[in-house]
Amino acid sequence: MKYVEHAPKELAYYESYTEDLPADDEINAKMIRDDHHAEEIAEIFQTPLQGTYNWDYTLQDNRIKRLYQLGKDLSWDAEHNINWEQEKQHPDDEHDQKFNAFYSYPPYQAMSEDEKKVYRKHYNSWALSQFLHGEQGALLVASQLCSCAPTYNAKLYASSQTFDEARHVEVFSKYIQNRVGLMYPVSTSLKSILDKILTDQRWDLKFIGMQLVIEGLALSAFNVLKQVTLDPVLVDILDLVIRDEARHVTFGVNYLEEFTKDLTEEERDDRAQFAYEACLISRERLIPTDVFTQFGWDAEEARRYFLDGETNQLFRKLLFSRVIPNLKRIGLLTDNIRPKFEKLGILEYEDHEHDGVIDWAELERPLEIRNGTAA
Ligand SMILES: [Fe+2]
Ligand SMILES: [Fe+2]
Repeated sequence: MKYVEHAPKELAYYESYTEDLPADDEINAKMIRDDHHAEEIAEIFQTPLQGTYNWDYTLQDNRIKRLYQLGKDLSWDAEHNINWEQEKQHPDDEHDQKFNAFYSYPPYQAMSEDEKKVYRKHYNSWALSQFLHGEQGALLVASQLCSCAPTYNAKLYASSQTFDEARHVEVFSKYIQNRVGLMYPVSTSLKSILDKILTDQRWDLKFIGMQLVIEGLALSAFNVLKQVTLDPVLVDILDLVIRDEARHVTFGVNYLEEFTKDLTEEERDDRAQFAYEACLISRERLIPTDVFTQFGWDAEEARRYFLDGETNQLFRKLLFSRVIPNLKRIGLLTDNIRPKFEKLGILEYEDHEHDGVIDWAELERPLEIRNGTAA
């Protein structure tokens, strides 16, 4: 085991990567290809976790009890419930081109068709890698919630979520290693938001940051990717993961709604500010800076192009149209914080549909597994 001070910055190549390797990375890549017992890399974080026992073993809240039961009933397995043998229909492309935010960007246009293909593979790898790292973050946060959530039913629920997140980490890492062949390191902005959530002492901030902001965004992003990806295996994976994430977000909104009722105005403002900062960082999270660097683009110029571009504006709208109504539902769009969200251009979604009303029919839909393929 090798301990590092900061998250690695290198790309990791696997045997399934079919393109030519860039010269600089060849040695590094070969190492990963040849050495199946490569050293594990770990990074330590310290957390002043405040845990609670709960001695009252009665389930108080029927909604949470029912969500916990669903977690047990709807557990699936990446090994058995996904047909990994399905062929890619478009071996040269990962997404519908409408999804490429850089389609008209001059440095992209200047590339040859082969280079463009490699760029698209890298962008796809970057996006999936951030999902993978985000899932690891969710796994660690959910396990903390088992200790620090105060109520008995939340502890049980968090344990089922912990198992869900473990399976998400497993399925995305398997997909990246077997089907993409290239893994990007965690982005600076995603890492900073995970650090903040994991090292904060207050359990409700962990809930707000993870269940509402990170998972709310991930849920929207998974839905977008499911629409645009050209790989049937990824469609099946996302279908299964989305079902779990919808349950996680529903739990977060319904649980926090009760809790935030009892906060003082000052405490509420404090949480609202935290949620705002999490959204602010999350906006940066969508920017594939490490891909820009890989292709020698000017990172700041490409960032501006991305933020101002139509694809991104549409994407951002889709992403935040779920998070903002949920924050409003739990009382965190306070008068003090509203102008800040307004400035980010995302307050307009406040009256969109929230996850406070539970769609039981959707959440309880049975898992349909046909010939190893989830339907
Ligand atoms: Fe997850
Ligand atoms: Fe989750």
